[in-house]
Amino acid sequence: MKIIVTGGAGFIGAHVVELLLSQGHHVANLDKLTYSANPDISTMFRHHRQYSFHRIDLLYPEAIRSLFANFQPDAVMHLAAESHVDRSIDGPRDFIQTNIVGTFNLLMASLSYWQKLPEPQKTKFRFHHISTDEVYGSLGPNGYFTETTPYHPNSPYSASKAGSDHLVRAWGETYGLPVLITNCSNNYGPYQFPEKLIPLMILKGLDEEELPIYGDGQNIRDWLYVEDHARALYLVLQHGEIGRTYNIGGNEEHTNIDIVTQICKILDRKIPPQKTKQRTDLIRFVRDRPGHDRRYAIDSSRIKNELGWSPSENFESGLEKTVDWYLEHENWWRKILDTRYAGERMGKIS
Ligand code: NAD
Ligand code: DAU
Repeated sequence: MKIIVTGGAGFIGAHVVELLLSQGHHVANLDKLTYSANPDISTMFRHHRQYSFHRIDLLYPEAIRSLFANFQPDAVMHLAAESHVDRSIDGPRDFIQTNIVGTFNLLMASLSYWQKLPEPQKTKFRFHHISTDEVYGSLGPNGYFTETTPYHPNSPYSASKAGSDHLVRAWGETYGLPVLITNCSNNYGPYQFPEKLIPLMILKGLDEEELPIYGDGQNIRDWLYVEDHARALYLVLQHGEIGRTYNIGGNEEHTNIDIVTQICKILDRKIPPQKTKQRTDLIRFVRDRPGHDRRYAIDSSRIKNELGWSPSENFESGLEKTVDWYLEHENWWRKILDTRYAGERMGKIS
């Protein structure tokens, strides 16, 4: 298959590109290269003859249309987005532009390309939108998000992703574009930009800096190793039912304080601390994130029962692997800390 992957220079996108290439597909990576793009992307896949990179901003419809005309895709996997909740609090405009207007531009380009396709390519074409569990809002202590949970986004980020989900659904219902939507829980693993909880705490812990935990640290997320997410996306692309939504989660609920404590213990075991007795002494409870969702938990039974997916990594081994990856790739993250983001707090309001 020929697949356009948007956001293929991002954290999850790069794992998706790698998986698709390993399965023999042709990949055109459409990415603007914002601050969160992988600094190694220009070299990562350069030996693959079936890979091409296209520096395109989703806000430029002409450039998107010309990629479709030249590449003639069989499918689009749409991951490009502004993805960080704290940044969406400080500057929501880019989230509305990229996540909503950008998705609209991509849908319009896909639709006009798809309408002119001959059979059987037209029937086989897929537009797969990669979204988040945050569109469902926040859970209390019990229950799970299912595919029928009403949307109730609480942050500018999740509201922009909810908006883009609705656009994708509408393009399926109104124009017949063969769409698929997936809503996934928190990912972690290699190449995650160090503004997100797990890499941020690994790098701050390594440098023995204070470890800021928002609020009381009892907020819960459902964690999934990024390669398990990439496999789920590939399965949905191949076998998902047109117009259907699939929730994806790791069934690994952990409080933030638990996660940071585990990271401290792994680091202490691998590199004994110099400034304190143990890295948990560096934990600081700081002012909460505005609109901070309390708990996310995904019911993945649809993708498990209908498509046979299940995660292969558990949180304990996945976290250990992730810490090891960051320890072994200092060149990668130092470049980011030195030039793009030095670990400062964002999203506080005033
Ligand atoms: P990321 O921030 O690491 O990567 C996003 C990529 O999109 C970057 O390479 C960036 O350059 C590109 N991009 C941003 N604006 C663009 C624009 N205007 N035009 C073209 N490219 C642009 O994000 P991620 O964590 O890899 O997330 C990928 C997708 O998965 C997002 O849609 C996100 O909402 C969704 N998602 C993420 C998680 C998670 O835990 N990280 C969980 C569920 C869903
Ligand atoms: O649930 C899926 C979502 O997960 C994705 O759609 C988003 O793109 C992704 O960024 C992630 O959103 P979160 O807001 O859950 O991730 P983040 O890593 O920013 O925060 C995880 C939890 O840790 C959250 O409860 C806030 C808390 N936190 C975060 C940071 C950066 C802290 O306590 N301290 C911190 O310094």
